[in-house]
Amino acid sequence: MGVRVSPMVLLLAMVTLMACCPTLEADGSSSLFADNFDIMWSEDHFKTSEDGKVWYLSLDKETGCGFQTKQKFRFGWFSMKLKLVAGDSAGVVTAYYMCSDTGAGPKRDELDFEFLGNRTGEPYLIQTNVYKDGVGGREMRHMLWFDPTEDFHSYSILWNTHHIVFFVDRVAVRVYQNANADKPNDFFPSEKPMYIFSSIWNADDWATRGGLEKTDWKKAPFVSTYKEFSVDACQWEDPYPSCVSTTTQNWWDQYDSWHLSDSQKKDYAWILRNLVIYDYCKDAERYPTLPSECDLSPWE
Ligand SMILES: *[C@@H]1O[C@H](CO)[C@@H](O)[C@H](O)[C@H]1NC(C)=O
Repeated sequence: MGVRVSPMVLLLAMVTLMACCPTLEADGSSSLFADNFDIMWSEDHFKTSEDGKVWYLSLDKETGCGFQTKQKFRFGWFSMKLKLVAGDSAGVVTAYYMCSDTGAGPKRDELDFEFLGNRTGEPYLIQTNVYKDGVGGREMRHMLWFDPTEDFHSYSILWNTHHIVFFVDRVAVRVYQNANADKPNDFFPSEKPMYIFSSIWNADDWATRGGLEKTDWKKAPFVSTYKEFSVDACQWEDPYPSCVSTTTQNWWDQYDSWHLSDSQKKDYAWILRNLVIYDYCKDAERYPTLPSECDLSPWE
């Protein structure tokens, strides 16, 4: 999307603001998988429960499986409950992410949650990453304060022009700040609408202990389970740039959503102290000059 906006487009955007941005709420009870999603690959590695509310993605030696939303969104709240592959899941990665492209486009924006499997009894890690115009390399890795294979937990993303926050069970685990919400920059995804994806695949060349632990295919199929997808966001409509962020409409665009609340800050401080095991902003070997977004404070 272009950055310069002509007065005519601005006017149009203002006129359409009233009618723009219907919120799509897709709670597990009212929505069928097929209303919101398409399978991207391996239809036969996807299953639902009888009532359609719980979804299973499986990986075996042949292939994994993935799905994506039919719609694109720009700004809002995106949430899903996941229960990850139990037992020996070394080398198995389950991903839940947002991306502006359906493939690995060279200019894509992307927000990732990746769940890195492990040997039985060893801790799962979550890895998050942010891509802007095809450039990622902004990994953080966290341990969790629970076993994510035992039960469903929610994994959510809040996205507005001020920040992107990754949540686990409503606890902020990563805050990715924007510098000046009105000015485009080279690190904060805000122009391109994104689809939501999930997939399971094999990555035993890097995922578990840096690739030392290989997938034990005798344990296949590896299954990740999903339910209660929910989106409270602006659904993108072509051809006009819809989903213009303003301070007067949706809750995710309002002042209270521009920063963490005091209690969220407390939790976030605890997470940073106790559960972060990798932060690219602290990796001076990899980034002798730290990327500029690393200077931004999440505490404002
Ligand atoms: C897997 O377990 C090992 C040993 O406890 C740990 O060092 C590692 O961080 C865990 N996770 C991954 C994804 O390697």
